[in-house]
Amino acid sequence: MTVATWPVAELHVHIEGTLETELLVTLARRNNVALPSYDPEALRELYRFTDLQSFLDIYYANLAVLRCENDFYDLAMAYLARATRAGVRRAEIFFDPQTHLANGIPLAVVFGGLSRALIDARRDLGISADLILCFLRHLGGEAALETLEAAVPYLDQIIGVGLDSAEVGFPPSLFTEVFARAGALGLHRVAHAGEEGGPDYVHEALDLLGVERVDHGIRAIEDPGLVQILRERQIPLTVCPLSNVCLHATPTLAEHPLPAMLAAGLLVTISSDDPAYFGGYVDDNLAAVEREFALSPHQMAALARNSFRASFLPEAEKRRHIAAVDEHLEGLLRLTSGA
Ligand code: HPA
Ligand code: ZN
Repeated sequence: MTVATWPVAELHVHIEGTLETELLVTLARRNNVALPSYDPEALRELYRFTDLQSFLDIYYANLAVLRCENDFYDLAMAYLARATRAGVRRAEIFFDPQTHLANGIPLAVVFGGLSRALIDARRDLGISADLILCFLRHLGGEAALETLEAAVPYLDQIIGVGLDSAEVGFPPSLFTEVFARAGALGLHRVAHAGEEGGPDYVHEALDLLGVERVDHGIRAIEDPGLVQILRERQIPLTVCPLSNVCLHATPTLAEHPLPAMLAAGLLVTISSDDPAYFGGYVDDNLAAVEREFALSPHQMAALARNSFRASFLPEAEKRRHIAAVDEHLEGLLRLTSGA
C-alpha cells in the first residue's frame, strides 16, 4: 500500500534542483534570459542524463535565470510548499553560492531570498527549514575556503557546510582545510561521497573531513569494512533512489543497494536530491522504494524515524517528530487491519 504522507525530514535536497520548468520559464521571461525553449514540457524532455556530469551541465546552465532576491525567494517558497504536501516537517537544504557568485549574484541576494522564504514558510506552512552551504568540488579547495570566508557575515543563516558537484577526480582530501575551518566555526559538516566515487571517497569524507552524514554513500556497500564502520558509528546516509536511477548510479531501481544497506543495519534516510530533474519529491521517492521492495509499514516507519534521527534538530524536537511517525504507523496499521 502506498502512503504519501509519512512525516519526514528531508536531508538531501539542492534548492537549485527544485527549479521546476514552469518556474524556470517564468524567471527566464522576468529576467530576459534565453532558454532552449519556453515550453515547460519541451524543457523537461531535455532531461535525459547519462551520468552526473550530463545532469550538472544542464542544471548549472538553467541557474542563469536566478538574478534577484525575489527569484531565490520564489524558488525556495515553491519547494517548501511542495515539500509540506510531501509530509516534510523538517528540511535541511543545500545551496551552491559559488554558482550564483559566478553568475554575478552577490551573496547578500542569495541569502536574502532564501532566508526570507524559510522564515515565511515556518510561519505560514509550519515547516522547519535551515540551509547548508555547499562547496563545488570542481572549483577546488582554495575557492571553497574563499567562499566560506565570504559567508562568515551570514553564519547565523546556515547550519552547516556540504560538498557537491562532480565527484570523481575531486576527492574529499582536497577540502580538508575548508572543512576544518567550518568545524572551528561551529558548523555541521556533510559531504556527497560514494555516489559515483568509490568507497575510498566515503572513507576520506569520514576521516579527513569529519562529516556527520554522508550524502548518497551508496557505493559504501562495496566495502564490508566501511559498512561495519558506518553501522557501528550509525553515520547517516542520505540516499536518493530516483536520482540514482536517473544518473545511472544504479542500472535500475530493482538493483538499487537500498535493501542491502537496510539489511546491513545502516542508518539510511530517503531524499529527493534534485526533484525537478529526477521525477519526484521525497514522497515520490518513498513511494517508489516502498513499491519496488515491497517495504512493510514498519520498514517505512523506520525510514521516517531515521530521517529525524539523522537531522540536526535538537533532541527534544527529534523525539516529538518520531512520536508523530509512530502515531502515523499506528493509524496505518489500524486502517489496514480494518479496526
Ligand atoms: N551530486 C553532486 N552534485 C550535485 C548533485 C548530486 O547528486 N545534485 C546537485 N549537485
Ligand atoms: Zn545531491
